[in-house]
Amino acid sequence: MPTNSIDSLLRETRRFAPAEDFSSNSVTPPDIYDRAAEDRVGFWADTARELLHWHSPFTETLDWSNPPFAKWFADGSINVAYNCLDRHVIAGNGDRVALYWEGENGDTARITYAELTGEVKKAANLLTSLGVQQGDRVAIYLPVIPEAVIAMLAVARIGAVHSVVFGGFSSESLRSRIDDASAKLVITADGGWRKGKVFPLKAAVDGALANGTSTVEHVLVVQRGHNDVEWTEGRDLWWHDEIVAMDADHEAQGFEAENPLFILYTSGTTGKPKGILHTSGGYLTQVAFTHKHVFDLHPETDVYWCTADVGWITGHSYVVYGPLANGATQVLYEGTPDTPHQGRWWEIVQKYGVTIFYTAPTAIRSFMKIGRQIPQQFDLSSLRLLGSVGEPINPEAWIWYRDIIGGGETPIVDTWWQTETGAIMISALPGLTTLKPGSAQVPIPGIKIDILGEDGTRVDPPHGGLLVVSEPWPSMLRGIWNDPDRFIETYWSKFSTPEKYKYFAGDGAHVDTDGDIVLLGRVDDVMNVSGHRLSTQEIESALVSHPIVAEAAVVGAEDEATGQAVVAFVIIKSNQQDAQTATEASALLRQHVSEQIGAIARPRQVFIVAELPKTRSGKIMRRLLQDVAEGREIGDTTTLADTSVMQIISDKLK
Ligand code: WTA
Repeated sequence: MPTNSIDSLLRETRRFAPAEDFSSNSVTPPDIYDRAAEDRVGFWADTARELLHWHSPFTETLDWSNPPFAKWFADGSINVAYNCLDRHVIAGNGDRVALYWEGENGDTARITYAELTGEVKKAANLLTSLGVQQGDRVAIYLPVIPEAVIAMLAVARIGAVHSVVFGGFSSESLRSRIDDASAKLVITADGGWRKGKVFPLKAAVDGALANGTSTVEHVLVVQRGHNDVEWTEGRDLWWHDEIVAMDADHEAQGFEAENPLFILYTSGTTGKPKGILHTSGGYLTQVAFTHKHVFDLHPETDVYWCTADVGWITGHSYVVYGPLANGATQVLYEGTPDTPHQGRWWEIVQKYGVTIFYTAPTAIRSFMKIGRQIPQQFDLSSLRLLGSVGEPINPEAWIWYRDIIGGGETPIVDTWWQTETGAIMISALPGLTTLKPGSAQVPIPGIKIDILGEDGTRVDPPHGGLLVVSEPWPSMLRGIWNDPDRFIETYWSKFSTPEKYKYFAGDGAHVDTDGDIVLLGRVDDVMNVSGHRLSTQEIESALVSHPIVAEAAVVGAEDEATGQAVVAFVIIKSNQQDAQTATEASALLRQHVSEQIGAIARPRQVFIVAELPKTRSGKIMRRLLQDVAEGREIGDTTTLADTSVMQIISDKLK
């Protein structure tokens, strides 16, 4: 199995202490854990002052008087974009490259901090001229191009709130996100490059706005794909036409530290994605802190590359806000790892001399499958640190990553965190920690993690339990957009007093005999497919929205390449059963999910079945379906209303 199993991890004995020259040159002081432990809240106050520029200083660090609604640095004011841009220019680093952009089709751009600051100032003026004000929501639906970064920072600069929607999401998913946030403006592109082709984005926006009831006043369109687009006069504007007329001067104003910065939708256990809300001062403090120490960032010399799309939280925190707040030089890449050839990523590492590389285990596993001969054609000797995020990285992949990509020498940081946590929560610090494959290891300084049983009592090592964050942290989500009840219910209602206000992450974990935290996957109905979060219920809703479907059940089945894969079991309505063969119905429904949610949610398999396994109270037993999907012996069926159902299903699928 590609993800962690306790057995294989218990046998994992390899340890990698930091190399002496790495430690002695590390940006992280050896006493950092002690300092944070002595005065946790004071540590975050010092960090916020040290790493960020405050327009007006804060006097109060944490207000936790009304849990679970936290306020950090509340009486201070800050401008997030100023911290990512202007101050680096003022400090004399305007000529430093901020972005080396690689388009998938071979287009490139090299953008310094001075240039990026200038572009964001113009874009901020453009947003203001379109009537966008502090607190207004702007939806961003773009490929990974410099304008995505510029747009996010311009929104932040004027105190508005962005909601970035991953370009792979369907028109339907985009519409629900635009509507939920009541966005005033959408920023998109004609199209972007992916797998050697232009994929249309503007058309999806047109579809999302087609019913005419939306709050969107304008659609700003970046020209990227040069594909044909339809145009709604008065509503649609070309970015390049508008931006040229804008003043290059724009003064950044301070906003209160709790001013909302962005909403990012993510899958939960119910059908409807939730809008995770992050605010300014605390978020920026923790992303800057973790980006500096987890990646041992030396901004003068490092070239950093995080492969995430800006549409995910990793792109927000470790492509846009963390690296730019720290004045890093980074690579931004638009496309897929294997276009136009399987060595594309490694060619980019070689071309720019990338020193720090951050990606997901699913990518590593697919490179492993292709073989070492591809990366070995490139000079990867510039790499000095590797990172992993999104799902557990199994020891085999960890070792391969270190040996083949890292030349057998680079440390690897396995970073655990979530859209909700905003920033890295559990990770080694490479200058200090002895690394161990298969474990995310330890909470970062200033973060308190516990493993609890279902009843809220602490579980003793090495037993498994539920991962909780026991104390509020600066970059924690501040709520779910428009839904405070769901916020409380999802994250803060698992345990009763006195453990009530411990944050329930939804992950299982255990602490091993070395005191390291080992993640064991989700304990809820959230799947992790290629490091992307998907909800079983959301996909079930998409399936039953098709007229031929009577009932559907979805499970996440182990998959060697993607960690988990979506497998669906569907009952076709009786009057539809003769209309097509099972193979046709299955193909049709896979496509339908892709249209409803996006290609990432397309099931690997759709099995057409006559019955679903249900308990006497009517609850579908997904566990049994998972056994079938994973080709295992079927587990205990005694609680089923009809115990023969599973036999019928598995016989049929054989
Ligand atoms: C999983 C991505 C094990 C976990 C930043 C979490 C991980 C979910 C790791 C959040 C890791 C992320 N080891 N599991 N290093 N990193 N996860 O919101 O289940 O897209 O709850 O944030 O990914 O996914 P999200």
